[in-house]
Amino acid sequence: MSSFAPLHVQVENSFQHHFSRKPLVVSSPGRVNLIGEHTDYNDGFVLPAAIDKAAYIAISPSGSTHGKWISLDFSEFVTIDFQNITINSVGWANYILGVVDQAQKLGKPIPAFDCVVVGDVPIGSGMSSSAALESAVIFALNELYDLGLSRWKMALLAQRAENEFIGVKCGIMDMFASLHGKVNHVIRLDCRDLSFEYFPIELGDYKIVLFDTGVKHSLADSAYNTRRSECETGLRFFQKHYNPNFKALRDVPIAMVQANRSRLPKEVYDRCLYVTEEIQRTLAACEDLKNGDLAAFGLKMYATHEGLRHLYQVSCPELDFLADATRDESSVLGARMMGGGFGGCTINIVHQDAIEGLNERLAKAYQEAMGHKLGMYMVVTGDGAKVQA
Ligand code: GLA
Repeated sequence: MSSFAPLHVQVENSFQHHFSRKPLVVSSPGRVNLIGEHTDYNDGFVLPAAIDKAAYIAISPSGSTHGKWISLDFSEFVTIDFQNITINSVGWANYILGVVDQAQKLGKPIPAFDCVVVGDVPIGSGMSSSAALESAVIFALNELYDLGLSRWKMALLAQRAENEFIGVKCGIMDMFASLHGKVNHVIRLDCRDLSFEYFPIELGDYKIVLFDTGVKHSLADSAYNTRRSECETGLRFFQKHYNPNFKALRDVPIAMVQANRSRLPKEVYDRCLYVTEEIQRTLAACEDLKNGDLAAFGLKMYATHEGLRHLYQVSCPELDFLADATRDESSVLGARMMGGGFGGCTINIVHQDAIEGLNERLAKAYQEAMGHKLGMYMVVTGDGAKVQA
């Protein structure tokens, strides 16, 4: 088997080699998010796109009560007892186990399976490698065992797997994008009712570029859950004092938040202000896209970064450095941290002729200031989860 073969071929060949039968092969992509950060679990709007990097799974029923799972990325395998689906000491296996656990809870039989997984979504870069794997697994199980789930239901199931099994209280954005992505399009998703609209990406001479800090701080997951509960605290305040029917911060007007500055703990106030502003900013940014006003869109990206940095406090010095460093670059329309925060990538809109020079300047400055090597990815959009022919 050549390691230069495409990944869907690698998982298939590896599966045949280990199990001597032909598997089903499925892929599901990572994602970027143009704007609308930390709004999904507040019933707000997000603007993600699936990318051309994905998780791949080759899978087939094992015919027994146990399954053997192999990760090509980690060069590891685990044996799983399907009668006792529980947390495993092997980290990557839990993303598959969480999905099996949720699929079993649907009340349909999930016979034991063998699988091989691999992926090229960079881990820890904020492109949702874990959601890609979870989405690939549920898409594969749906095919294999005729679960009859829509992509919409699969996204919700994968989210529950992450929330309940992994313990990260993430929103729906990552799985939704992984399952619904469309090449050359972003998805404007209303996280309240999961209605969505595809927008063509028409950036003219501009490209989406990710700069990777190369760091992921260990507090990322716990801080994420803390932010969620701070939003819930804020929501309870507005329900109690204004309207018991408010279902999420989406329902709270910005002016109502501002009017309560002195009555709320500073942190809760800041979180609520950021979220309510970001939801409106995302809607306005979609109008900018429709109008072809990329300059206005880019300014909103910077505003989002400032909100995430000062009010929501999920940035870090490395991300701030990279966002700030683009401010004097006339070729950059907008830049901001992307995803959960505390590391990973910034997302930037950059004139195509300037990308190489910008990368060189940033890499040098970043190495000097932060002592890390800078990574760069050009974003190519892709389709959502699919069976590989
Ligand atoms: C992570 C979560 C998403 C979303 C983003 C922040 O990627 O998995 O649900 O909340 O952070 O926008």
